[in-house]
Amino acid sequence: MSQKLEQYLQSNLEYLKDNGLYNEIDVVEGANGPEITVAGKSLINLSSNNYLGLATDEKLKAAAIEAIKSHGVGAGAVRTINGTLDLHVELENKLAEFKGTEAAVAFQSGFNCNMAAIQGVMNKEDAILSDELNHASIIDGCRLSRAKIIRVNHSDMDDLRAKAKEAVESGLYKKVMYITDGVFSMDGDVAKLPEIVEIAKEFDLITYVDDAHGSGVMGKGAGTVKHFGLEKEIDLQMGTLSKAIGVVGGYVAGSQDLIDYLKVAARPFLFSTSLTPGDTKAITEAVKTLMASTELHDKLWENGDYLKAGLKDLGFEIGKSETPITPCIIGDEKKAQEFSKRLKEEGVYAKSIVFPTVPKGTGRVRNMPTAAHTKEMLDKALEIYAKVGREMGIIN
Ligand SMILES: Cc1ncc(COP(=O)(O)O)c(C=O)c1O
Repeated sequence: MSQKLEQYLQSNLEYLKDNGLYNEIDVVEGANGPEITVAGKSLINLSSNNYLGLATDEKLKAAAIEAIKSHGVGAGAVRTINGTLDLHVELENKLAEFKGTEAAVAFQSGFNCNMAAIQGVMNKEDAILSDELNHASIIDGCRLSRAKIIRVNHSDMDDLRAKAKEAVESGLYKKVMYITDGVFSMDGDVAKLPEIVEIAKEFDLITYVDDAHGSGVMGKGAGTVKHFGLEKEIDLQMGTLSKAIGVVGGYVAGSQDLIDYLKVAARPFLFSTSLTPGDTKAITEAVKTLMASTELHDKLWENGDYLKAGLKDLGFEIGKSETPITPCIIGDEKKAQEFSKRLKEEGVYAKSIVFPTVPKGTGRVRNMPTAAHTKEMLDKALEIYAKVGREMGIIN
């Protein structure tokens, strides 16, 4: 190995380990359900994004197997050559119906969907106003577009209005976009979409909502935009198919013109092989399930409210979450990691989240109850939280 590379790797690894920022990766032995097995130990799982429990759903599994039998395991090509299967078209039509838009396009992951769509519509003559807590894939998508990136204070509508005004009135940019998470994944708060739409109208901003954590969770399952009834106002509704939907992939939903354009301009659509038949069919089944009933959605919220109330009553600092996402904010990174480690020893898998995923000094343990948890599991988890929290002096 090159000596320069070796030195670079060693010094960075040392720094991360010394500062409690090095993430040890656990291996899950089996499915990522409400309980998981790690190193032979069964644990209550509060760390997945499998919000509705669909990742292990029998109907989705059957749909995937059926599609593998009829279409094979791979799509065989990129979408624009001959990797557009009838299954993709069926999925995209369902997604548009689900999201209340004219059309939708699916991508291979939520991450590359942001690479694809932001760069697809924005370029170096434009500016993007971006919430400071936006997900890494948004940040990278913005960078790839080469547009001027203007950070906006988190959910601060005065700051957005002032920066939108300045950007538009400067005359420097052909187009200006505002981009935000619909639900912020590390705090569980919701973007102020009605005010955002108002400001966007005032300054003719393009609006882009990444609803990775809102789909399946907000708007009776259809997402944050639907929650506020703004399907006709938000230009790009992006989401993942890997969290509440339980499979893998991403999508953009919007006008027919937008989707037609992304299909010729979005680079991952043009240059990366399309979603596999099994995944595609399983996703379609998941969307149909959500459209047919709110049962899973309702159970998720019931469990979320229960866990949140329990942690708050114990005295944990749970921030300002408006969704089932429930952080226990510890502050110090090393303490957050130690807390997570002790929870695991006692039987709860709740991963610590530290910089760079969240700002320095806001280390936390993020809890994600799902529709698949039972009350007994949540009670057991709360008991363990109480024990470890008191032992470590985090609560009284
Ligand atoms: C807000 C947001 N956008 C995009 C993504 C990427 O989605 P995926 O995991 O499907 O690639 C994530 C995943 O963590 C996310 O939280």
